[in-house]
Amino acid sequence: MTDSFTSTDPTPAESSPPAPATDGFGATDHADTDLLRARIADVLTTARARTAALTDAVDESDLVAQHSPLMSPLVWDLAHIGNQEELWLVRDVGGREAVRADIDELYDAFKHARANRPALPLLDPAQARGYAGTVREKVWDVLERNPLRGGPLIEGGFAFGMIAQHEQQHDETMLATHQLRAGEPVLAAPPAPAARIGIAGEVIVPGGEFLMGTSADPWALDNERPAHPVHVPAFAIDAAPVTNEQYLAFVDDGGYRRPELWSERGWEHRTSAGLTAPQFWERDSDGRWWRRVFGAITPLRPRQPVVHVCWFEAEAFARWAGKRLPTEAEWEKAARFDPATGTSRRYPWGEADPDESKANLGQRHLEPAEVGAYPAGASPTGAHQMIGDVWEWTSSGFDPYPGFRAFPYREYSEVFFGGDYRVLRGGSFGTDQVACRGTFRNWDHPIRRQIFAGFRPARDLGADER
Ligand SMILES: [Fe+2]
Repeated sequence: MTDSFTSTDPTPAESSPPAPATDGFGATDHADTDLLRARIADVLTTARARTAALTDAVDESDLVAQHSPLMSPLVWDLAHIGNQEELWLVRDVGGREAVRADIDELYDAFKHARANRPALPLLDPAQARGYAGTVREKVWDVLERNPLRGGPLIEGGFAFGMIAQHEQQHDETMLATHQLRAGEPVLAAPPAPAARIGIAGEVIVPGGEFLMGTSADPWALDNERPAHPVHVPAFAIDAAPVTNEQYLAFVDDGGYRRPELWSERGWEHRTSAGLTAPQFWERDSDGRWWRRVFGAITPLRPRQPVVHVCWFEAEAFARWAGKRLPTEAEWEKAARFDPATGTSRRYPWGEADPDESKANLGQRHLEPAEVGAYPAGASPTGAHQMIGDVWEWTSSGFDPYPGFRAFPYREYSEVFFGGDYRVLRGGSFGTDQVACRGTFRNWDHPIRRQIFAGFRPARDLGADER
């Protein structure tokens, strides 16, 4: 994909990572800091390449159009990415003059609801690309000169990591906008892997205390902190996310017509919204099911995790299956807890960063992989595909951990605590690995379906199973 940040505006052309700095530290520190700078340059470059791919894939009229009232025009996301990067890395960390202080208010997500953003006097696509490119040039200079120590905002490169995660989060949002967009397919990727092994049934997670959250991960966000012990009684959880085949059995069994399977609020929503199947499912006159995936109509793949279901649908399926949704603590324990050592891992498979043998992340594919595609990514208790493929709804609301401190700004997490949200865990095929950990917390309203969300049920153990 060409980098159109360079071709549509007179601002600086090539965005290149900085050369290693040459002053200030002893040999060991120096090497560590150079490594950190290289990692930061890498994650920022990766994020920008994805932003460019998502915005270059459509024409100008598509960029400024609103494809759903739930979403911003893509051109808003693009300039907002640049504006957040300017606020945090150019002005705050870098102490530099503002590039465009006049547009801060336009791109403040709290000032304008998504539905109202198309009516704002936004930068046009060329201006937005040019602006984001100009900011990035300044960031390379800030990164080159910053010691990456000397305060919580820059210690371990936190602010840079936060901004890379922010851009990737918006990239996932833009990917969801692509899924909502009408018209011919414009994105392409190889099909997600097929199953390598059969996965069925549940795994048992032993009862007792485990360490939830993290205090050590340098780029973990405030809501993941601090690490704290949580007692979780023994429970069973599905070894894999619910598949299309399993979900279809619920649909065929009248799942959408039986109020007793739904909570009162869920049934109200099912009725008023007219839900009869997951979003983007279509049934032909022969009764076969298809799925619309980024503009292409594809047969429903039975062994892929179901995606684009809201929390109420997940809740109803779980009740139909004689189960319930896992709490957030249960989900994290199933993903991270190693009964052999009593410790919590960074990822289900250990401490190593994700790669394509372990998880379906980073928009390498435009769909979840079949259940059983990543045996190397299983957790110690035998749960598969907890990272990647689909976000997984939990039964929990979004609340602070004991000892929570808002950092670096209240609007990242704190203002959402206690709202009408449910926590989602584990990331999706559209989540980049920089924004995905065993501790990472996402949240959304229980009616939302445009996100890449599925679920896996859990249940209490019977007396004879404990
Ligand atoms: Fe944002």
